[in-house]
Order: sequence, then structure tokens, then C-alpha cells
Amino acid sequence: MKPFVSIPKRTLRGRIRVPGDKSISHRALMLAAAAVGRSRITGLLEGEDVLRTAAALRALGAAILREGDGAYRVDGVGVGGLTEASEVLDLGNSGTGARLLIGLAATHPFTSFFTGDASLCRRPMARVTAPLSRMGAQFVSRGNGRLPLTVRGAAMPIPVTEKLSVPSAQVKSAILLAGLNAPGETTVIEPEPTRDHTEILLRHFGAVVKSEEAPEHAGEKYRHGRAITVMGFPELSAKDVVVPGDPSSAAFPAVAAILAEDGEVVIENMGANPLRLGLYETLLEMGADIEFSNQRVQGGERVADVTVRASRLKGVDVPPMRAPSMIDEYPILAIAAACAEGKTAMRGLSELRIKESDRLAAIAEGLASCGVTVEKLEDGLVVHGTGRKPGGAMIGTHFDHRIAMAFLVLGIAADDEVTIDDAGMIATSFPGFAELMNGIGAEIKAAP
Ligand code: S3P
Repeated sequence: MKPFVSIPKRTLRGRIRVPGDKSISHRALMLAAAAVGRSRITGLLEGEDVLRTAAALRALGAAILREGDGAYRVDGVGVGGLTEASEVLDLGNSGTGARLLIGLAATHPFTSFFTGDASLCRRPMARVTAPLSRMGAQFVSRGNGRLPLTVRGAAMPIPVTEKLSVPSAQVKSAILLAGLNAPGETTVIEPEPTRDHTEILLRHFGAVVKSEEAPEHAGEKYRHGRAITVMGFPELSAKDVVVPGDPSSAAFPAVAAILAEDGEVVIENMGANPLRLGLYETLLEMGADIEFSNQRVQGGERVADVTVRASRLKGVDVPPMRAPSMIDEYPILAIAAACAEGKTAMRGLSELRIKESDRLAAIAEGLASCGVTVEKLEDGLVVHGTGRKPGGAMIGTHFDHRIAMAFLVLGIAADDEVTIDDAGMIATSFPGFAELMNGIGAEIKAAP
């Protein structure tokens, strides 16, 4: 356990770049591995989650070499060209790494063994194994469809049309990646649009991917959704990928600057895919001063520089429909809400119970220990902000990187320091978090 403390500070200023986008980093490695030839990836997130994916892909036959900070060379094996790993694939803490790789492995005719850390071994995998079984893969897992699990990949994969019961980019992506090595068209119908990095990168590497409104016969639940189709057996060819900064990581310095008395931080080169910007939309509604500039498109992904300034926030109702576009940002939104004036209601969040920790419980418990009034709903939270900035507690992070970072941000803004019980997991998504925050005026350090 590495307890850390965050000391209150008035001023946060600077220009920063946050580490590469985690979702895009996993996918860039996987698609470069599935392409023919040599791809170069720059800006790759060198967090533990992504490094686990790289190690698993190496074990499956791709050559992946680090050439410098965030710079990787991948010699791909072509669609269907992965080979049986001689070791167990351990994805550590990473749900994305595990679920997407299970998808890839599901249509390769060999056996793979997957495991992860204690948190990952608690998370549901049936959401991917059920559709992948319909494509012909076979699975043996612990009870309840948890890791460790074994995949016997289909020798004659069957293309499917799958209607997702939950809006999950991980499940969508697992099926689309499996569809690469299946004949014909594999289609996923999602109830609400989720992050589309897989679709964007698939096209970048040369696959044919259609994305259209969900058909009417899919039913009322899919009224706002999309149908995404990948054509099987594409010729993916090596491409270079430049990974933008992760908007989910940028959320922490952004909210810290907004809550500071004297705050102005520019986050350069942040990924600005509209399906990832729900938090920024919500903060704007709360009254935050946020400006997007220098907007551009890079390898199909939107990128921008984002300036955030100290602001007085008010509570809002966050529409449940927005959840997929800010699913990882509720911990930091709850911190902003605790410091805002009035009530902020967040609903439609049952997925938060099965992230790296039960985030609904962890947020509610952490805020309550700082003296904030929080109502815990079955699928959400209501945070009662008073305009004061509460702190002064020891927070249980439940080994969850985003809970850890969110409460360290509260410590910067608060009247009293905040201590977290463990900062060890932060490196899964945001290596160098404390150093970067301290570079703009925070004081985050190992607790005595
Ligand atoms: C991710 C999708 C989201 C998100 C996770 C990354 C991805 O999970 O919480 O951190 O890269 O596809 P779900 O698809 O389970 O919602």
C-alpha cells in the first residue's frame, strides 16, 4: 500500500500534455498486430494496462519493440495470423485489454488462457463470451463467467448480428475484432452510441466498416443506437498511429484548475472524440470556463487544445443518456459536484458498480467521509454541494486508479488535505500523475 496525501493549494497554472489515450493505445497495438507489415505508434500510453496488452500480443506472435518514450514499432502478423501463446495471458487490471483480446483470440483456431489481478477476476466476462460463443468459440471459466478463463478459438467462425444489452464499447469492440477473422459481415447493434475508436482505427488500417442508425426492427431500446458492421477477412496493412492525450486523464487536471481559486491550465493535444466529451459538456453546463482551440483531425480522431479556468460551479441534472460518453469520469465529476453550489444528480450508472471497483460505493463512501451529503441510488448518486470545498479525510481507494486521482484532486481544492490509502494503481492509466500535477502547482506526495 502506498498512501499519498494532497495538500490544499490556491493556484494551479501551466501548459501540459497528458499521457496517451488508453482506449486508443490498446486498439492501436491490437490492430497493428493484425495488419501486415511494420506500423509505428507514437504517443502510446505506457501505463501498466497497455503494457500488459503489448506483452500478451507478443506472446501471441506479434513483434512489438519500444523505440523511445511512447514510441513503438509493431511487426504485424496479418488478419488470422496470431499463433498459440505458450503462457497464460495476464492482463493485470485491464478490462479493455482482456475483453478485446478475448475477442481477437475467439476466432483464431487455438487455445488461450486469460487471467488478471483480483479486481479483473471479479469483473463479468459473460458479456463477451456469450456473443463470441455464438461465433463458434468455446470458453471454460470460473463460475459466473469470471477470469481466469480459457478460450478455444473457432476454427470455422460464424459471422453474427449481436444486439448489445448494455452500451459497452468493450463488448462492441470484442465482437468486431472477432469479426475480422470470420467470413462475411459481423454486425453489432448498440442501444446508445459508445466510443468508436475501434471503428476509426479499423478504417485507418484498411478495413471496411459501416456505421448506421440502428434498424427500426431492433426495437425501442435501440432507438438512439447504431448498427456497426465489419467485413470479414480484410487486408489490413501497416499504418502509423499518433495517439492523442487521454480526455479521461485530462479530466483530473482540468477539474483541479476549475476548482482552484486561481486556476488556468492549457491541456495540449487532447483527444476530442465527441463520444468521449460528456464530462466537458457537463462541466460547461455547471458553469465552468472551458475553451476548445486548435481543433484538428489526426488519423480520423479529433484532437484539440483545451483551456480551463477557475470557475464557480452550480449543481445540474446529468442526463442518463450521456453516461457512455463520460463513463470513466463520474468519480471526478462527483468531486466537482461536491464543490459546486446545489444538487447534482447522476443516474443510469449501474455499469459503475462493475468497473475496477464498485465506483458508486467508493465515491459515496469517500465523499461522505469528507462530510458531503450524498444519496446513493440503485443506479446513481445525488451529491449535495454547498459551494464549500470539503476535505480532511482518509479515503479508501479500493485499488481503483480513478478513485485515487479524483480524491487527490479534491485535496488540492479543499480547505483540508486529503489522504488516500493507496496510490499504486494510478500507474495503470496515468503514469507520472503526481509529478504532472505538482508541475502546475499541486503538492501530492507520499504520506508520512
Ligand atoms: C473502454 C470502454 C469503457 C470504459 C473503459 C475503456 C474501452 O468500458 O469504462 O475504461 O476502451 O472500450 P465499457 O465498454 O465496459 O463501458
